[in-house]
Amino acid sequence: MSAPNRRILIIDDERPILLTLEALLGRHGYQPETAATAAYGLKVLKNSSPALVLLDLQLPDAEGLEMLDQIKREHPETQVIILTAHDSLNNAIESIKRGAYHFISKPYAPEELLSLVERALEKQSLLRETQELRQKTVQLEKRLELAETRLAPVFKSKMMQEIQELITAMAPSDANVLITGESGVGKEVIANVIHSHSRRAAKPMVKLNCAAFPQAMIESELFGYVKGAFTGAVNDFSGMIAEASGSTLFLDEISEMPPDLQTRFLRVLQEREYRPLGSTKTLKADFRVVAATNRPIAQALSENRLRADLYYRLNTFQIELPPLRERKEDIPPLVASFLKRFAQQLGKPEPEIAREAFQKLLDYSWPGNVRELQNAMEYAVVLARKNEITIKELPSEVQLPVALQQIERGNSQSSGTQNLEDLERNAILQALAQSHGNKKKAAQILGIQRPTLYNKLKRYAIEL
Ligand SMILES: Nc1ncnc2c1ncn2[C@@H]1O[C@H](COP(=O)(O)OP(=O)(O)OP(=O)(O)O)[C@@H](O)[C@H]1O
Ligand SMILES: [Mg+2]
Repeated sequence: MSAPNRRILIIDDERPILLTLEALLGRHGYQPETAATAAYGLKVLKNSSPALVLLDLQLPDAEGLEMLDQIKREHPETQVIILTAHDSLNNAIESIKRGAYHFISKPYAPEELLSLVERALEKQSLLRETQELRQKTVQLEKRLELAETRLAPVFKSKMMQEIQELITAMAPSDANVLITGESGVGKEVIANVIHSHSRRAAKPMVKLNCAAFPQAMIESELFGYVKGAFTGAVNDFSGMIAEASGSTLFLDEISEMPPDLQTRFLRVLQEREYRPLGSTKTLKADFRVVAATNRPIAQALSENRLRADLYYRLNTFQIELPPLRERKEDIPPLVASFLKRFAQQLGKPEPEIAREAFQKLLDYSWPGNVRELQNAMEYAVVLARKNEITIKELPSEVQLPVALQQIERGNSQSSGTQNLEDLERNAILQALAQSHGNKKKAAQILGIQRPTLYNKLKRYAIEL
């Protein structure tokens, strides 16, 4: 909660009153400001938003009650105490009806005034807290709305539509599922869709990322333990199998689970029973398992990262999510939903995307898949000026011509043997990348004449 507001504005045309009030309030730890006219008072109100106004109803340049109305209209939280002259009790009562906190007639006793001021400030601060709470609630609701837009995954391409059909068919069963695919293709998104279409959707899905835990801890996270099972087990801990009871257990990066634990877990899957560490009691395991890995299955099996017996148990249904570059029809609807979401989050209008920029998004190979596209769109929405995303707002690797992207990729995953032609082609692409596509410089880097370079570009069908 923000610091209490102790600013008090005194509006009165009688200078002696202004000065004595200012001194009195200042001495008691308030921050008084003064105005001798209504016009100046309104200016101060706007600039320093005081918590309280002490208002004289007889001002030279305004009708006091109208001034009060204006203050309450424009600054509804600001409290007003009316300073009245001896005989205008009627006005005082009217002012309370119109929203003043209280009135005090001149000449006033300082203690009476101070106590009134303190109570008015308390009221103001309560009002402000309520207001702040309300704002927080609104923000929370907005965030929830955003979370919901996040829950609408895109299934536009033919491949993804087929996957969607498969999910709709098998989600309600308790069949085990194994989801594979490169990093960022949406494995967790799919796991969530399966869970939310299952009979277990009422309870939240429980996720264990086997790559995020030290191997020694995965076992206790999963199985739980009883007090004293090992040093440091000072309390019973029920574990994720228990937590996932009646729900779905999402085992992410399953190939990072230690092999002996994979065997133990397989036994749980078969017997539907398990025992927490250090416990003698056998408990029922009632979860549906969805597992995921971003390693190619053949490789994970041959390297013994994924035990074959567990694999055969898990892949009752196997969903292989294709990389984004193999389903480019998904790019436009993904872009549209990301632009919408990030614009909302940043409180900006939704930007348009220039045609050349859009072409770049379609041409790029997205090695980081949907996550990379999502990050690029967030970045672009932040940078977008005049409500348009142009090539300049895209990450530099997306801006590169297609031919140069190939060499960038070639560098990161250099394949075993290459023939001489490949080597030459790659050397040319590399030189072009270094020279940012400038052919004269590329020829210099390669130590060949420019016409020779042109011939080779033609021969290798390198287009810039
Ligand atoms: N079909 C989709 N529709 C909308 N957003 C998606 C879709 N697929 C993925 N995303 C978004 O892309 C990001 C990455 O997805 P997710 O975390 O599911 O990928 P992953 O395959 O689990 O990646 P990793 O292997 O790195 O864990 C998430 O922010 C997700 O919201
Ligand atoms: Mg994941």
